[in-house]
Amino acid sequence: MCGITGYTGKMEALPFIMQGLEKLEYRGYDSAGVTLVDDKKMFICKESGRLSALSTKLSGQHHPQTCGVGHTRWATHGIPSQLNSHPHSNQAKTICLVHNGIIENYLSLKQELLKKDYHFRSQTDTEIIVHLLDDQYYHEGLNMFDALKKVLPRLSGSFALCIVTKDEPDTIYVAKKESPMILGRNSSGCFCASDAPALLPYTKKIMPLKDNEIAILRKDSIEVFGFDGSEKTQEWIDAPYDIKAAQRDGYDSFMLKEIYEQPRAIKETLRGRLTEDDVVVDELDELDLDWKDLKRVYFVACGTAYHACLSAAMQMQHLTSLNVYCFPASEFRYGEPYLDKKCLCIFVSQSGETADTIAAVKLAVQAKARTIGIVNVLGSSMSRMTDICLYTCAGPEISVASTKAYTTQLVLLNCLVLAICKRIDGSKADRKMIAELKNLPDLIRDVLKYDEQIKKLAKLLSDKNDVYFIGRQHDYPVALEGSLKLKEISYIHADAYYAGELKHGPIALIEKDTVVIAVATEAKIAAKTISNIQETLARGSKVILLTSDQIETEGFEHVIRLKTISQALMPVEIIIILQLFAYHTAVMKGCDIDKPRNLAKSVTVE
Ligand code: M6R
Repeated sequence: MCGITGYTGKMEALPFIMQGLEKLEYRGYDSAGVTLVDDKKMFICKESGRLSALSTKLSGQHHPQTCGVGHTRWATHGIPSQLNSHPHSNQAKTICLVHNGIIENYLSLKQELLKKDYHFRSQTDTEIIVHLLDDQYYHEGLNMFDALKKVLPRLSGSFALCIVTKDEPDTIYVAKKESPMILGRNSSGCFCASDAPALLPYTKKIMPLKDNEIAILRKDSIEVFGFDGSEKTQEWIDAPYDIKAAQRDGYDSFMLKEIYEQPRAIKETLRGRLTEDDVVVDELDELDLDWKDLKRVYFVACGTAYHACLSAAMQMQHLTSLNVYCFPASEFRYGEPYLDKKCLCIFVSQSGETADTIAAVKLAVQAKARTIGIVNVLGSSMSRMTDICLYTCAGPEISVASTKAYTTQLVLLNCLVLAICKRIDGSKADRKMIAELKNLPDLIRDVLKYDEQIKKLAKLLSDKNDVYFIGRQHDYPVALEGSLKLKEISYIHADAYYAGELKHGPIALIEKDTVVIAVATEAKIAAKTISNIQETLARGSKVILLTSDQIETEGFEHVIRLKTISQALMPVEIIIILQLFAYHTAVMKGCDIDKPRNLAKSVTVE
């Protein structure tokens, strides 16, 4: 969603701001803008559309200001337009701000401001904030820090804010609640951004701002306070990856780079998690939970992470007699789930900032359920909210279409499920599965060798309007994920069905040349899926079959055979093929792989 960058120091601010916004492009946006400030005036420049449109507008101009903020906006309230794009300023153009998040009570606050004769130029929820600050600053006579302390507690919803003022032209006020904000510093000055890749070319010293904190960035200092004004300790860390990790590195898209990074990402995620014959998830000992008393387990996430949860929930259902549930976070939060201290809730999120998942965590925490987070981004909001947090070590995932986050979630969830089952009934992890986990990086390298073959097969899909995915049991959640990948980046309508459900309705959609991607890797039920495939073939479909090397099939024109491993791990192999299908199809259709329309990397609104 929206991206923010800000700098104050000795250098010119614009180059940092613009390169940072470029690094944050993956978050998704439809307009962009910057404010540069000095003691004479605020320079504001905004443009709807791509960042390149803003760069073109700014090209040929010289801006010596050493303080400023930038923003890419993903429209929520009001269409993408120059008027609605950020920064927003007060009438006198002396206070300017950028915002990521949503102010849920903006309408009532707007009514209040209208009565005080404030005029609104945009349709955004954001504009009320700048007028509220103006009111406190000019009419109540407060300084900006005190004005913020008054205004911020009145805002419901989520926000990461950067504010600059003409009166303090080398200062940026930053505030955060439920939207990400990272601070950085080096000998030239102080920085802030929505995500670390924007900072990495300038500094590796970073500090994620926490919820309900205000930071004051000056040329050579950073102070951090709570919304109540109390001073906070600063926890600086070294960014857990370098700038190379956030660059395309010769690949034509981040998605392709990240598909190829999966062997390493899985290896890193499993580092320290496997012994000869067991999994190691010692963090579980920190949970205040009597395992024998555990009644329910909930897996909760959104999108791709939800698909990883479906696989893990299925694995757990097969291994225990516990009540195991899996919900998309947006359903969980309103579904009145039964929660108490005998429930364990496992939340999964690449970004750790997804609004629905965070709301679901809050619900579980309030009900005193025990909570585990599986998160990729160090220091993200979710990582601080759950009782314990396990990290996938995928490195930065820039592509909107999630790839390496999914496979690392699958393997970490696999270890977690095994470790939980051991605590419940003393069952030891299966030695065969441990060996397979260790071998997964090599196995994926082998699967990636199908790349050229898939590129050719993708021609079958590229001119289609609809593609259907089918699978049973563990092959079903991965079919869902494959169909999500295809629709996200190629805009082909793709649906996934349980293979056995096809004849109960969806088969009506199958006609001559409809492409069906069938996943049938489990020996004991593959024959059933193959019968369902035959039913589609009889109606003229073109089938691409993904199966495993122990299953005998004949008569299929397009078959990909994967090495047989434990069923719970098969999705890791299968998804590599489906990711490559989505990628090559989208390339053939000329789609922008890393900037799919309407999508944002981190969905920080409900
Ligand atoms: O950051 P999260 O894992 O919480 O994100 C959840 C979904 O928004 C995300 O997986 C989304 O579905 C991806 N674009 C899928 O490729």
